[in-house]
Amino acid sequence: MTILVTGAAGFIGSNFVLDWLTQSTEEVVSLDLLTYAGNLQNLSSLNKNPHHHFVKGNIGDRNLVSELLKKYQVRAIVNFAAESHVDRSIHEPKDFIETNIVGAYNLLESARNYWNGLDQNLKQDFRFLHISSDEVYGSLDFTDPPSNEKDPYKPNSPYSASKAASDHLVRAWFQTYTLPILTVNSANNYGPYQFPEKLIPLCILNALNGKPLPIYGDGQQIRDWLYVKDHSAAIREILKHGQIGETYNVGGWNEKTSLEVVETLCAILDELKPKSDGKSYADQITFVKDRPGHDRRYAIDASKLERDLGWRLQETFETGLRKTVLWYLENRAWMNHVVSDQYQDWVQKQYS
Ligand code: NAD
Ligand code: DAU
Repeated sequence: MTILVTGAAGFIGSNFVLDWLTQSTEEVVSLDLLTYAGNLQNLSSLNKNPHHHFVKGNIGDRNLVSELLKKYQVRAIVNFAAESHVDRSIHEPKDFIETNIVGAYNLLESARNYWNGLDQNLKQDFRFLHISSDEVYGSLDFTDPPSNEKDPYKPNSPYSASKAASDHLVRAWFQTYTLPILTVNSANNYGPYQFPEKLIPLCILNALNGKPLPIYGDGQQIRDWLYVKDHSAAIREILKHGQIGETYNVGGWNEKTSLEVVETLCAILDELKPKSDGKSYADQITFVKDRPGHDRRYAIDASKLERDLGWRLQETFETGLRKTVLWYLENRAWMNHVVSDQYQDWVQKQYS
């Protein structure tokens, strides 16, 4: 049997598929619309792998999804497909509503129709695993405990509101139709193949190109940073042993301000790729206008996942960030490929 992975050419999706195929002989169908954030190069090492099938398409295309579910006898859907960048959602929320809410609804309906037609054993084994974000819990005060699965939703950006809406739909499809769903709310991921619009890859790219490293506002916004392969491992565990209808939070127990993240990154670059003038990359740090409605703090309580499923982090922030920086240094061709005219337009719009 096969799993269907949506958004598989994006950052977390591609890491998940690459990791999955090193661990399992179960086939993967990767479905991705290849928006600006999707990149087939992320999956190019699988070009000759007979266990991997790539299909370009929209999660909202019910005919296509239904056909794929039947053709490959899919036993689980892992839904990564989304518009994922908060700053883009502030400039133009429309695509976030269309993919993250309407697309998720259509995917749920395709899954429900397919699942209803399965025989009892296959029906029991089927899973719809939805990937969501810690941003749905909203901004925490500095003294608040990290967000757990029972906390109320208080999304503040168009992006997080659209993810919250999709989580509610997923929950409703379980409560109303008993579709066997699982929801995963994760903290900020970092690692290989992340598009350079997000803080860490953007700063690696700008540092190497001698450009400013833009820090929004005072740089004291806290995020909980999780190495992407620790997230992949959590998803595999949740798919295997997670309890149907449940939500699992995945985090790195690793709260850092944006400024701390960029300073650590600069220190690693200073060591691995010293500048010819002997100066530090940290000299390129520049404070810029803040993000509207910028959430001050996210933090995830991952103890349910640890307690119930035995998941443990494999990377510390220092080891994960070092691996990430090394990956970008060794993959300049990948970076040059994704930095298109369209990307330059975005940088101009956001930072000029
Ligand atoms: P990404 O932007 O790198 O990738 C998203 C992928 O989805 C792209 O390949 C894109 O082409 C594809 N896509 C977009 N719309 C589609 C559609 N309608 N149909 C099919 N494919 C479509 O995002 P990411 O960082 O890999 O995030 C993946 C998922 O994880 C998202 O749901 C995001 O909300 C969630 N998430 C991300 C983080 C993070 O730190 N990056 C943290 C928590 C949760
Ligand atoms: O928390 C999980 C979320 O993490 C995911 O759901 C989102 O898909 C993902 O994009 C990410 O959202 P953030 O907004 O936290 O990530 P980003 O990398 O855009 O920003 C991280 C922090 O760094 C945030 O406080 C804003 C700040 N920042 C970001 C950029 C792009 C800057 O200071 N300068 C920048 O140029």
